[in-house]
Amino acid sequence: MDRLFDNCGLDQLTVRGDDRGSLVAIEGLQDVPFQIARIYYIFGTGPGVERGFHAHKALHQFAVCVSGSCTIVLDNGQERRSVRLDRPDRGLHIGPMIWREMLDFKPSTVLLVLASAKYDEADYIRDLDEFHARVRQEHL
Ligand code: TYD
Repeated sequence: MDRLFDNCGLDQLTVRGDDRGSLVAIEGLQDVPFQIARIYYIFGTGPGVERGFHAHKALHQFAVCVSGSCTIVLDNGQERRSVRLDRPDRGLHIGPMIWREMLDFKPSTVLLVLASAKYDEADYIRDLDEFHARVRQEHL
């Protein structure tokens, strides 16, 4: 695992390949450090479009660019790190209280996201100033 922050890192996934092609299986609490409650995927993101711009209070997520590539910028309130997701056998774990921005989507990119809880708008922090204020509060 290439660690980006305490609760974020890039993981190599096991590829089960043979002459028919490749297969990656992801199991909750085994290949990702949480039970999987929800799966969604992002596709059809046009050139120049940026997504995300929020943090989650408690949610864990694991993102795999199963086709194409995109850049994910992570911010823990103190530092920003950027990672290019361009392989279907690498996944990015993003823990709670990490601001994320997604950009530079290559055409035909499919970004698969596994999440630890069902969709809950109350878990989102969509304002960067509020995010920084909450991080400061946590470090007091
Ligand atoms: P949004 O959080 O804005 O996407 P991103 O973080 O990629 O920029 O979500 C887009 C829309 O989809 C928004 O109306 C909320 C809705 N949505 C769900 O209904 N369920 C989900 O699991 C997710 C992730 C989003």
